[in-house]
Amino acid sequence: MSDKSTRIGEIVALHHHREGPLLPILNDVQAAFGCVDAEAEALIAKGLNLSRADVHGVVSFYHDYKPQADARPVVQVCRAEACKARGVEAIVAAAEAAAGARVKIETVYCLGLCSAGPAARTGDDLHIRLDAQSIAELVENA
Ligand code: FES
Repeated sequence: MSDKSTRIGEIVALHHHREGPLLPILNDVQAAFGCVDAEAEALIAKGLNLSRADVHGVVSFYHDYKPQADARPVVQVCRAEACKARGVEAIVAAAEAAAGARVKIETVYCLGLCSAGPAARTGDDLHIRLDAQSIAELVENA
């Protein structure tokens, strides 16, 4: 048994007793491996006695689950309505230019900071009232 299947087995066992164990399992697998790939889907499905289609349907519904690991740092930029109204579209180009191929700019829809947008998140850190210069600095430091 590979290290990966052993670890996923541990994660499934950790949550198996819960009501609605799939999402906590997917969260832990994503955190452990940076993705929930086809192999992980199959192992989780087997562990929960679900079909692979059941698991894949949930994985593909939520954008936070990635089909393959991406080692790049991620800057999530909110492009929902309130941040749009506060000018996010005018500063996205500055973020993308600063990112190049090194940083992944990911669009999200609302970080719960609507009155203080444009807003972005890096890891667990939230950033507000961004302008072209501050978002470029944020990306460069990601
Ligand atoms: S719309 Fe951007 S944080 Fe809510």
